[in-house]
Amino acid sequence: MTDDILTYSSDKQNILTGTCTPVDQDVEILSLRPERLTDYVGQAKVVETLKIAIDAAVQRHDPIDHVLFHGPPGLGKTTLAHIIANEMGVNLTVTSGPALEKGGDLIGILTNLEEGDILFIDEIHRTPKSVEEFLYPAMEDFSVNFVFDKGIHARSHKYRLKRFALVGATTRIGLLSSPLRDRFGILRRLDFYNDKELIEIARRSADLLGVDIDDEGASELSKRSRGTPRITNRLLKRVRDYSQVRADGKITQKAVEEALSLEEVDEMGLTKLDRQYLKTVIEFYHGGPVGIEAISATLQEEADTLVDVVEPYLLKIGMINRTSSGRRASESAYRHLGFDIEK
Ligand SMILES: Nc1ncnc2c1ncn2[C@@H]1O[C@H](COP(=O)(O)OP(=O)(O)OP(=O)(O)O)[C@@H](O)[C@H]1O
Ligand SMILES: [Mg+2]
Repeated sequence: MTDDILTYSSDKQNILTGTCTPVDQDVEILSLRPERLTDYVGQAKVVETLKIAIDAAVQRHDPIDHVLFHGPPGLGKTTLAHIIANEMGVNLTVTSGPALEKGGDLIGILTNLEEGDILFIDEIHRTPKSVEEFLYPAMEDFSVNFVFDKGIHARSHKYRLKRFALVGATTRIGLLSSPLRDRFGILRRLDFYNDKELIEIARRSADLLGVDIDDEGASELSKRSRGTPRITNRLLKRVRDYSQVRADGKITQKAVEEALSLEEVDEMGLTKLDRQYLKTVIEFYHGGPVGIEAISATLQEEADTLVDVVEPYLLKIGMINRTSSGRRASESAYRHLGFDIEK
C-alpha cells in the first residue's frame, strides 16, 4: 500500500510546478523537510493551532482531532502530517485517496492502527465514494461496519477500531464532499509564503546541503520561488550545481539570475507555463473573460494542472482575476509580458 504513495501524480514534471517529482523525493528524503514544529517556517496561525491541539491531546492522553490541510502543492501539507506524528510520538501510516481503491484497502489499514496513531491520506479528494463511506463511522466513533451477504440477508457487524487521528491533505477542497469535510475538527488552509519566510527556508536548506549562500542570493532565490518552499529547495539545487560548475560554488544573486534564466524562470518566479497561460488569455482571448476549459484546450494542458498549479499563484499576485464569466488577465499581466494595455 505505501508504495502507491511514492508514485507521485505529476507526469508533466517541470522544475516550477509545485508538484512533487522523484527528484524532490530525494531532496525531501535528504531531510530538508522539517521534522519539528519549531523548524517549520511560516504559517504562524496554523502552527499555533496545531501546537495547542497537540499539547492538549498529549496532556489528556487522547489522539489529536482529525485535521485537514488544503492549499496549493509544495506548501508543506505532507510535512505537517509528519510533524504532528513526531510531536505526538506516535506512528504515522501514509496512504492516498487514489491508492484506496476498495473499502477493503481502507479497512485493512484502519484495523492495523494502534491507539493514538495517525493515518495520513494524501489527495483525499480522490478517495472513491464507496471507500469514503467507511471513513465516516471510522472518524466519528472509531468503528467500521462490515456487511455480510446481500439483499434481505444482509447483516452488518460493527468492528471497534483503536482511537486514531486522520490527517487529510488536498489541493482541491472544493472537490471534497461536505459529509467528509464536516468530520474534520481542524481544517486549515496553507497559504503562499512571503519573501522573508522563503529566505529563511533557503538559508536553512543551504545549511543542510552544506552550500554557501549570501544575503542577496537568498533574497533573489526567494523572489523566484512562487511563494512555495518546494520550489525554493528545487531551485536551490539547480543553482548549487550551476555555481559549482560555472562559478566558485557560492550562491550569489548573479549565480541565481544566471542559473534560473537557463531554467526559464523569470524575475517574478513565473515559469514558461505561467507565461504561456497569460499569453493565451491575452493574445488568443483578448484578455478574457475566458473559461478554463478553453484555455486548457488552447494550451493543450490539463485543466486540473492549470487550476491546481498555475492559477493559484497568478491569482495571488494579481496577474489574473476570476469572474463569474471566466478568467481575465490583469493590467500587471499585460505589463509583465510586455503587451500594450488595450482596455
Ligand atoms: N514551512 C516549511 N518550512 C521549511 N520547509 C518547508 C516548509 N514547508 C514545506 N517545506 C519544504 O517543501 C517540501 C514540500 O513540502 P510538502 O511535501 O509538505 O508539500 P505538500 O503541501 O504536501 O505538497 P503536495 O500538495 O504536492 O503534496 C518539503 O519537503 C520541505 O522540504
Ligand atoms: Mg504532499
